[in-house]
Amino acid sequence: MIKYSTRIVLVLKNIVVKIPINRKGYLQGLNENKIWNKYNSIAPLAELKWVWMGVVCQKRYNEATFILDSQVKEIKGLIPEFNFDNCDLYKRSNWGTDGNRYVLLDYGVNEYIASLY
Ligand SMILES: Nc1ncnc2c1ncn2[C@@H]1O[C@H](COP(=O)(O)OP(=O)(O)O)[C@@H](O)[C@H]1O
Ligand SMILES: [Mg+2]
Repeated sequence: MIKYSTRIVLVLKNIVVKIPINRKGYLQGLNENKIWNKYNSIAPLAELKWVWMGVVCQKRYNEATFILDSQVKEIKGLIPEFNFDNCDLYKRSNWGTDGNRYVLLDYGVNEYIASLY
């Protein structure tokens, strides 16, 4: 399966590969690496396997069927970089599940990156 917006996302059997197609996508990749290194031990983030020149490889998760406001609030509390208005953490498509645990799939944004298009 292939999805795209600012990145072409190849959804494979066990991994996903996110390839930037513009500057925003590239910055998202670098930021995903930064957020992963800083918060992976305290926040439910999709496992990052490697990053190379803005290309990100993560473990593949199942799609979340719904998300709760409380979950979004919780992660915004843990990761101050996400605490801005108009942050797309409320979009269900940015979340996945691992058994009964929710994981954030798309953690490349910050306030500056979100303002780009
Ligand atoms: N680790 C993952 N496992 C399964 N699907 C994923 C994963 N990462 C991304 N996806 C799917 O690809 C879509 C786009 O990836 P995302 O990280 O949101 O990139 P974009 O920056 O283009 O929004 C997501 O909405 C989700 O449906
Ligand atoms: Mg997304």
